[in-house]
Amino acid sequence: MDPPSVNRQFELADGSTILVSSARPRDADAMQAFVGGLSQRSSYLRFFSRLDQLPPSILKRFTQVDYPSNMTIVAVQEGSSKIIGLAGWTPSHVQSGDDECAVAVADEWQSRAVATTLLGVLYDLAKIAHKTRLEGFVLRENHRMFALASNLGIVLDKDFRDPLVAKMYRDIA
Ligand SMILES: CC(C)(COP(=O)(O)OP(=O)(O)OC[C@H]1O[C@@H](n2cnc3c(N)ncnc32)[C@H](O)[C@@H]1OP(=O)(O)O)[C@@H](O)C(=O)NCCC(=O)NCCS
Repeated sequence: MDPPSVNRQFELADGSTILVSSARPRDADAMQAFVGGLSQRSSYLRFFSRLDQLPPSILKRFTQVDYPSNMTIVAVQEGSSKIIGLAGWTPSHVQSGDDECAVAVADEWQSRAVATTLLGVLYDLAKIAHKTRLEGFVLRENHRMFALASNLGIVLDKDFRDPLVAKMYRDIA
């Protein structure tokens, strides 16, 4: 099924305006440019390895969204087609788990509430899609994601014991 057509405008605290919309097949090149433009550190924190490009299967999943199993939203600065942030959910890689959520923001746009904005839109969409919970796997060294998580009511799953990776979840009210 096609995803709901999202097209929302937000003004950040620094005065810049960003547009958040559902990802479309036409976003494929901009999405690869976004991934290729991430710093090594950001790429590692998002993908758990350094990625220059998304593999074709993942690019297809992110841009040819099979809603409600998958959802991807992108942020651009108003007047530009350059992607500055990306968030979405995919089915759990663990059988009977909840959908997995992930987010990444271009390095030069970090700390400006882009991830906060993207995740707010994603949670609204998850509610519309009747999701009850989104979960995510985050490297334990990813302190910025932990700080963001506590701002957004994302909970650390204390039963998940992995020395490198933490499991987090957020119930969709
Ligand atoms: C983790 C990550 C997604 C955070 O994105 P971000 O856009 O910088 O996050 P936000 O700006 O929304 O929120 C974080 C910061 O903004 C602040 N903030 C939140 N809302 C705000 C607002 N309305 N106005 C001003 N600042 C705000 C937060 O307090 C926090 O401050 P900090 O940067 O000093 O820690 C980003 O660093 C990233 O892409 N990292 C690499 C990939 C990754 O780690 N992904 C997560 C694993 S899936």
